[in-house]
Amino acid sequence: MASRTCATPVVPGAFPMVGHAWPLMRRPLRFAQSLSGHGDLVEVRLGPVRAQVPCDPELLWRVLTDDRLFDKGGPFFDRVRATIGNGVGACPYGEHRRQRRLIQPSFQPARLKGYAAVMEEEAAALTERWDDGGVIDAYRSLFGAALRSVLRTLFATRAGDAVVDRFRTSVETVLQQLTARMFVPAPLLRLPLPVNRRFDRAVADLRRGIDDLVAERRRDRTDRGDLLSALMTAQDDENGTGCGTGLTDTEIHDQVLTMLTAGSDSVTAAVSWALYLLDRNPEALDRLEREVDAVLAGRAARGDDVPALAHTGRVITEALRLYPPGWLFTRVTTAETELGGHRLPPGTTVAFCAPAVHRGRQLYDDPEEFDPDRWLPERARTLPRGAFTAFGGGARKCAGEAYALTECTLLLATIVSRWRLRPAPGCDVRPVALSTALRPRRLLMETSARRGLPK
Ligand code: HEM
Repeated sequence: MASRTCATPVVPGAFPMVGHAWPLMRRPLRFAQSLSGHGDLVEVRLGPVRAQVPCDPELLWRVLTDDRLFDKGGPFFDRVRATIGNGVGACPYGEHRRQRRLIQPSFQPARLKGYAAVMEEEAAALTERWDDGGVIDAYRSLFGAALRSVLRTLFATRAGDAVVDRFRTSVETVLQQLTARMFVPAPLLRLPLPVNRRFDRAVADLRRGIDDLVAERRRDRTDRGDLLSALMTAQDDENGTGCGTGLTDTEIHDQVLTMLTAGSDSVTAAVSWALYLLDRNPEALDRLEREVDAVLAGRAARGDDVPALAHTGRVITEALRLYPPGWLFTRVTTAETELGGHRLPPGTTVAFCAPAVHRGRQLYDDPEEFDPDRWLPERARTLPRGAFTAFGGGARKCAGEAYALTECTLLLATIVSRWRLRPAPGCDVRPVALSTALRPRRLLMETSARRGLPK
């Protein structure tokens, strides 16, 4: 726990035990945006734990890039490890490089081409299911496509509806509660309350689903060139040589779980927020439609269109700036250090809260404005390091960044090429309280086919 010797400004409004849970639950973005008004490094309370939050891009950059000193840990990753395990996203520094080397080949640019073909199919199938004049819950609708893409690309499964539905419910439940569990003292999480039982059931379901994936692959023993084969080959190698670089069964399990959770909700949230923002910014939507129509010329979006869909990419980046799906993570200092003129003892919790920087007035003109042109190269170049951290930074930067940007671009271009979406009655875009990915509660949208274009 952080000692007060670091004497950073304490953000007012914390309650005993739950700390700043209330403002973080009710208005997470407004709260995050307000933090820089108290200083470059400020103290908030994540439940009973004091956490230092960098609001200055350079300070945040240092935290993200010095991952030996600012190691994964603190209340968020403690809860993640207890649930999702010690996969590449949550493991401490000492285990990270080896795990990252094992998963990295599955994210090489050469692999992306094949993945993009799956993403195209999923985007087309998704938008073909919509009816002219119908209403969709954008987030729920997109979630299935994103989860199916991860299952098909990284785990080479056919991902039939039954498999997707099985994972979907449990992934959703786990991700909805993981962040909230930071604010609950550990003994309460063990009580047989309905909320805890639901969470435990979801984790058990997820693990059983993964057992089946792994068992099926063991039976046919084909190397399908996917992440699961790579993980299992690494394990076999360990058994053969005893060199100790392979993975244990538990580690394979943890990596699969990491990918399913990291790769579905985040993409879904990013595209959902982009749709919401485009509705409120007709000029940006108009430009986007013109770009998509010119590039696709009436055919379906393909992976190799992504470089030409430059404005579409900037729309995604700007949506990620305003609504970064990964909005609250933690680190823990492994030795005494200094940050922004404050002394941090070992064991200090530091929070990585991207919106505290992304929405800062010092950095961006009109930070609340949706302005995709901020990401034109000549403007983006003037921003300091750490100004945009939707994918994190340094050695722990998102392994799926290129994967995610390709998928978001293909989904958005496919949707915009075929449909106009307008908010429908009952829409509630407040972020789901303390959800792991910042996402709208109910983004209900009416779908109208764009006239004169193929549906
Ligand atoms: C728009 C979509 C996405 C966003 C905004 C996003 C964001 C992030 C962020 C912020 C981190 C770092 C967390 C930290 O520093 O504590 C991260 C890590 C990670 N993400 Fe993503 N992510 C996205 C999509 C994906 C996808 C599609 C995959 C895989 C299919 C993925 C896999 C990972 C992995 C494996 C890590 C851990 C990396 C490491 O520690 O070495 N992400 N992501």
